[in-house]
Amino acid sequence: MIDKENISEASAESLIAAATKVASNAYAPYSAFRVGAALLSSAGKVYVGANVENASYPCGICAERAAVAAAVSQGERSFSAIALVALDGEGRAKGVLPCGMCRQVLSEFASKEAFDVFTLSDGGTVKRYALDELLPHSFSITEKEVLS
Ligand code: THU
Repeated sequence: MIDKENISEASAESLIAAATKVASNAYAPYSAFRVGAALLSSAGKVYVGANVENASYPCGICAERAAVAAAVSQGERSFSAIALVALDGEGRAKGVLPCGMCRQVLSEFASKEAFDVFTLSDGGTVKRYALDELLPHSFSITEKEVLS
C-alpha cells in the first residue's frame, strides 16, 4: 500500500521500474544478489545505481550508495525518495531495506521535509517506509539535535 502523502503512486511505480531495470546491471558474482536503486532528487530527476561487488569483499558497494554517488557527481544534493529492488539468484524479488551504512549516507542528503524508501516486497507489492523510522536520531554535525 502506497501512502500518497509525499509522492504519487505513479512516481513510486516508475521508481520501482527504474530500480528493476538497473538491477540487471548489478555486478554480483559473489552473492548472486542483484540490487537496483532509483533515487529521486528534490528537483524531480531520477538517478540509478546497482551493487558492484569485488573479489576483496569489503570493497563492494551497495546499490543505494552507488545511486547517491552518481547523483551527487551530477551536482544533486537533496533527495526525496529511493526505490529498491533486490533479486535473488533465481531472479525472485526479495524485499530489502537499506543497510545501516546506506541509511546513514541517505540521511546526509535526505530532504528535510520527507524521504521515502520504497521497496518491492517478496510478494510483489510496493512497501513504503520513512527514512526517519529506519534511522531515527541519525548522526549529523550540520543540524544539531540537543540531547538532554
Ligand atoms: N546490498 C545492496 O546493494 N543494498 C542493500 O541494501 C543491501 C545489500 C548488496 C551488497 C552485496 O553486493 C549484496 O547486496 C549482498 O549483500
